[in-house]
Amino acid sequence: MPGAHLPPGPRTPGTVMKPVVVVHGGGASNFSSERKERVRQGIIRAAKMGYKILRDGGSAVDAVECAVAILENDPEFNAGCGSVLNINGDIEMDASIMDGKDLSSGAVSAVRCIANPVKLARLVMDKTPHCFLTDQGAAKFAQDMGVQQIPVEELITTRNKKHLEREKEELGAQKADCAKHLGTVGAVAMDCRGNLAYATSTGGIVNKMVGRVGDSPCIGSGGYADNNIGAISTTGHGESILKVNLARLALFHVEQGKSVEQAADLSLEYMKSRVKGLGGLIMITKTGEWTARWTSTSMPWAAAQDGKVYAGIDLNETTITDMCS
Ligand code: GLY
Ligand code: GLY
Repeated sequence: MPGAHLPPGPRTPGTVMKPVVVVHGGGASNFSSERKERVRQGIIRAAKMGYKILRDGGSAVDAVECAVAILENDPEFNAGCGSVLNINGDIEMDASIMDGKDLSSGAVSAVRCIANPVKLARLVMDKTPHCFLTDQGAAKFAQDMGVQQIPVEELITTRNKKHLEREKEELGAQKADCAKHLGTVGAVAMDCRGNLAYATSTGGIVNKMVGRVGDSPCIGSGGYADNNIGAISTTGHGESILKVNLARLALFHVEQGKSVEQAADLSLEYMKSRVKGLGGLIMITKTGEWTARWTSTSMPWAAAQDGKVYAGIDLNETTITDMCS
């Protein structure tokens, strides 16, 4: 099974936890080597910025929000600016965030004219009695909260316009390839108080129907965080992830005593065999073990802990560098 084996984050009970942040840039295939480098730099930047918040004593929720917002602002990734286009050539974005301390959560779906859906999800979590706002209600809430509206064109890249055209041509010729539909960004973190959090954000899948909502804003599928178990953010084919509740399924295996890698692989394998779905995930357990695993062709990921940055895109490709390099 493809994936990266990573060293566990050590923990001595009763002491300050070693903070860690792990980020992913979605499953993917067929990168050009130049794009791969830009993706690598982007994912590492997000992990470093998230880690800086933790190192300065900030919360896991702040770290995942920051890391995901950085990836939303980077046009290389399918979230925020760089989101893939729906069948009408428009953007509809989904995001969610969760605080493992008290299970408070916030999510938005089908949002259009804002740069950072993850920040809107955070506002849903912090400022409403609800967990999930969609479409016009989410847009009105954004306005009420003073979130800056931007023309949707500012989020649409030339690459994604071409991607939609190609997709329509290939669908006409019955050549659509499931693996290239993947893409989401996400982060999980543990702060020095042992609190866990996750955030996930996406433009969804190219050429999707108007109003299609994927797994990313759905708690239990696109992610989950519970200080009593762990934190996870998923990526991959949204419909498959929804069907197996991938995030909660992986954490169920952790609860049953599986190692973080075993739990990741069992849940990803189940999704593959049960509904033929490919994807990936990043996860931290309550004891600080973490991993990045996938069944898609590749998955850009990076983790920062203890002054070191771990990163990879393809199978068996882990680089380790110092935080300050
Ligand atoms: N957004 C309120 C809650 O998660 O309970
Ligand atoms: N996993 C992202 C989506 O399918 O929307």
